[in-house]
Amino acid sequence: MQIVILKDSVEVAKYGANIFIKQLINKPNSVLGLATGSTPLSLYQCLIEANKAHHVSFKDVTTFNLDEYLGLKGSHPQSYRYFMNEKLFDHLDINKEQTFVPSGDALDPINACLDYENMILAKGGIDIQLLGIGRNGHIGFNEPSSCLMSRTRVKTLTKATIEDNARFFTLDEYQPHLSITMGIGTILDAKKVVLLATGESKSDAILATVEGALTASCPASALQFHQNVVLVIDDAAASKLSNRDFYKHIEIENQKLRAHLAQ
Ligand code: PGA
Repeated sequence: MQIVILKDSVEVAKYGANIFIKQLINKPNSVLGLATGSTPLSLYQCLIEANKAHHVSFKDVTTFNLDEYLGLKGSHPQSYRYFMNEKLFDHLDINKEQTFVPSGDALDPINACLDYENMILAKGGIDIQLLGIGRNGHIGFNEPSSCLMSRTRVKTLTKATIEDNARFFTLDEYQPHLSITMGIGTILDAKKVVLLATGESKSDAILATVEGALTASCPASALQFHQNVVLVIDDAAASKLSNRDFYKHIEIENQKLRAHLAQ
């Protein structure tokens, strides 16, 4: 795992956005895996600014989102399709027909999950997958106890996740308890994975992900198996890591090596 520890959420967003911008400059028709939640919002803002400044184009890009609430149409303001349109796609030169989010209103959700997997394969697989992390270590809606080799499927949300996400719903609004999510195996198939985490509330999950055992109790720990994963986290999220100074040292050495190789 490459572990990049930065001062705050602003630096995390900039660093993460630069990884995506470099990816798109190297491969303009990249397949991006995208995430919802509060954490990626600033990164999306950086991508929008880079697009508006013509530093990068999204016109040949395909995207696949990690997950969606089962029971919500894409036009519902709490759906993740709506979130992605509002927070990112509406502000880019992207072809919306090439942006995919699992269908929350699928009549046959089981087949919709299979179709989603097949669609990812048909597009050549995900080049780079963005992830947040839940306080319980979930990635996508792969909650603790998820199979570490799972594929896109219907998942029940934990009470903790429902409570964490209740802030987005009004008191009288229906909040789904089910989701469609890419599986952990689907995520591990991405060629590169970028996980962002900021704030003290994520420090236990980051500790379990980086220094804990590989376990379905912390789905993000499966990333220990991935050969090209970068965790971009702030000091607060890194605060419980016992080898924090070592990770910072490795990153400085990596930067020196990259600068040397670029000469
Ligand atoms: P957050 O959610 O970015 O809103 O903290 C992350 C997640 O649950 O994956």
